[in-house]
Amino acid sequence: MDSTPPFPLTSHLTSLIPNRPALRDSVLPALLTAISQIALALRTASVHTSGTSNTFGDAQLNVDVLAESHIRAALLLCPSIHTASSEEDPVERPVHPVPTAPGPEAYTLAFDPLDGSSIIGPNFTVGTILSLWDHPTSALHLPPATSQIAAILGVYGPRTTAIIALRLPGTQGTAFEVSLPSMTVTVPRILLSLPPVTGTRYFAPANLRAAAEDPRYMVLVTHYIRERYTLRYSGGLVPDVVHALVKGHGVYVSPVTAGSGAKLRRLYETCPVALVVECAGGGRGGRRGGGDIEWVKADGRG
Ligand SMILES: *[C@@H]1O[C@H](CO)[C@@H](O)[C@H](O)[C@H]1NC(C)=O
Repeated sequence: MDSTPPFPLTSHLTSLIPNRPALRDSVLPALLTAISQIALALRTASVHTSGTSNTFGDAQLNVDVLAESHIRAALLLCPSIHTASSEEDPVERPVHPVPTAPGPEAYTLAFDPLDGSSIIGPNFTVGTILSLWDHPTSALHLPPATSQIAAILGVYGPRTTAIIALRLPGTQGTAFEVSLPSMTVTVPRILLSLPPVTGTRYFAPANLRAAAEDPRYMVLVTHYIRERYTLRYSGGLVPDVVHALVKGHGVYVSPVTAGSGAKLRRLYETCPVALVVECAGGGRGGRRGGGDIEWVKADGRG
């Protein structure tokens, strides 16, 4: 891109997505508008339990339900999205009351409407995670490398931003930052740096209590401390990953052990976050290569 940021999202999408008008003109604008609406609603919402729990057994907050309803309303505006499922309602179902035959563009959306329930009470940054698949159904059973074509991380902090990753078939993939509600591109190309990292190194050890039962995790965390890594961990997957994207590097670790299962779900969390990291160049140079983001293990639930 030759323009200097910030510049309008529409011009950026026109050059990135010449051949998918529904994705460019309907799906992405509707989903980003929903993220803006969730941000606005969170500013004034009180936070309390809704009295219900989702299929995974997590207690639902009123703000989970509120975020879910904004995304569901956005889906109704997108004829090309045929089905959807979410962490709050994890059964994939038709989006539209009267389903239509899939056209040239046909998608299914998997989403986590509000990630970070445990830290929203103290008003830490939380996020929305969206994952778009290039098929009208069956997101869980499609190969992510070729079928997951877009992921969005909505970030609700002092600023509202969205990190958008696009990897259409036959393209390398790209990731960029949009500021909301203005819908302007503020970072046109997010790129993780290649190792070695010079200067401050960061680590984010999720599920840290697992270190008490798994000596390998204890050794790894001790290694980061000895090597003078700086701790940057909020407990929110979205802000913790976005921290690395903004700094250009960082380690995020979320191990699973017998006594301490992680809560990351493949469809709603790990696939979309992995797409963002890969589109930011995180896959360069092999498995432990570029970006210095290491995925130790994430369970396959969902
Ligand atoms: C939470 O923080 C945001 C800024 O990040 C602020 O606008 C909002 O008023 C805060 N909410 C409460 C309840 O303090």
